[in-house]
Amino acid sequence: MIKKIREYREEAENFAGTSAEEIESFRIRFLGKKGIVNGILQEFKSVSNEEKKELGQEINSLKNAVAEKLEQLKPEKKTNSTRKPEDLSRPAYPFSLGSRHPVNIVRNKIINIFKSIGFSVADGPEIEDDWHNFTALNLPEHHPARDMQDTFFVERDPDILLRTHTSSVQIRYMENNTPPIRILAPGRVFRNEAISSRSHCIFHQIEGLYIDKNVSFADLKQTLQFFTRELFGQSKIRLRPSFFPFTEPSAEVDVYWGLNSETDRRITKGTGWLEIMGCGMVDPAVLENVNVDPDEYSGYAFGMGIERIVMLLYQMGDIRILFENDVRMLEQFRAL
Ligand code: PHE
Repeated sequence: MIKKIREYREEAENFAGTSAEEIESFRIRFLGKKGIVNGILQEFKSVSNEEKKELGQEINSLKNAVAEKLEQLKPEKKTNSTRKPEDLSRPAYPFSLGSRHPVNIVRNKIINIFKSIGFSVADGPEIEDDWHNFTALNLPEHHPARDMQDTFFVERDPDILLRTHTSSVQIRYMENNTPPIRILAPGRVFRNEAISSRSHCIFHQIEGLYIDKNVSFADLKQTLQFFTRELFGQSKIRLRPSFFPFTEPSAEVDVYWGLNSETDRRITKGTGWLEIMGCGMVDPAVLENVNVDPDEYSGYAFGMGIERIVMLLYQMGDIRILFENDVRMLEQFRAL
C-alpha cells in the first residue's frame, strides 16, 4: 500500500497540466469525494495499528504534494481564464477631496496667528444668561447700548438668550481663572438683524482678551499691528475712537487696504481704509465684576466678525454666499 501511495505522490508531483479543465480534473482525481485520497483513507481503516503510523505519514505527504501542486498552478490558472487583462489606458476613477468652509479656514488662520504669540482658545455656551452676555460686561438692564445688539431671547425673567457676542466667554474665563490671562474666544453668535448683503442673524466672531499687570494701550496697538501684518500682509492700521460699554477707552480698528483697483475702491468706499474690529482697554468695572482687582491688573480686549474678514480676504460682495453652502462655491476653497 505504501508503494501505491508513493506512486500516486510521484504522479501528483509530476503533473504538468496547464488548462483550467486539466487542473480541475487533477484536483477531482485526487481530492474529490471518490478520489484517490479518500479511497486510501477507506483502506487505512482496516490496517493494523503498527502500520497506521507510517501509513499516516505517507498519506499526509501525498495530500501535501497535491495541495502544493494546485497552489503552484494557481497563477497559471488565472492567465488561462477568460478574464481580460486590465485596460491600462482607461481613465482613473474620479477621486473627490473634501474642502474646508472659508469661515473655518479664516478662523484657523486667525487662531494660529494669535497662538504664535501665546494666546490659547477658550470655549463657552451659545445659550447664555443675562449676566454673562450683558450685566457683567457693564451693560446693566435698560442700558441703551443693549440695543446695539438686537437679541434673540429663549426665555424672559430671568432672561436666557442666544449670546450676541463671545465676550460672554471672556467673563466665564475670568470668573474661573486668575491673571495672567491670554485667550481667544471664537464661536457662533446671534443677532436679530435684518438680513442684508452685509449682515446675517448668525455669524462667527473671534474675540481676544489679555489681562496682566501693566498691560497698556501700546501693547494692544502692537498686537493688532502684528496681527494685521500676518493676516493681510499690511501693518498700516489706524484706531478711531469709539464706544463699547465693556472697554474704556475704546477704538475701532481700520486696516489700510489701498486703492489699486476698482474693486479696492468699491470695498473701501473710496477711502482705502477698512474697518475690521472693535477693541479697547477692559473697563475696570468689568474686572471688578469678575473679582479681578483693577488696581493690580489691567488688560485689553478686541473682537471681530469672521465673515467680514472672509469677505475682505476673498473679495466677496455678499455674506449670504457663506451660508448657502453651495458646493460649487465651497469646492473653490479646496486648495487654500
Ligand atoms: N463684543 C463686541 C461686539 O460684539 C466686540 C468687542 C470686543 C469690542 C472686545 C471691544 C472689545 O461688538
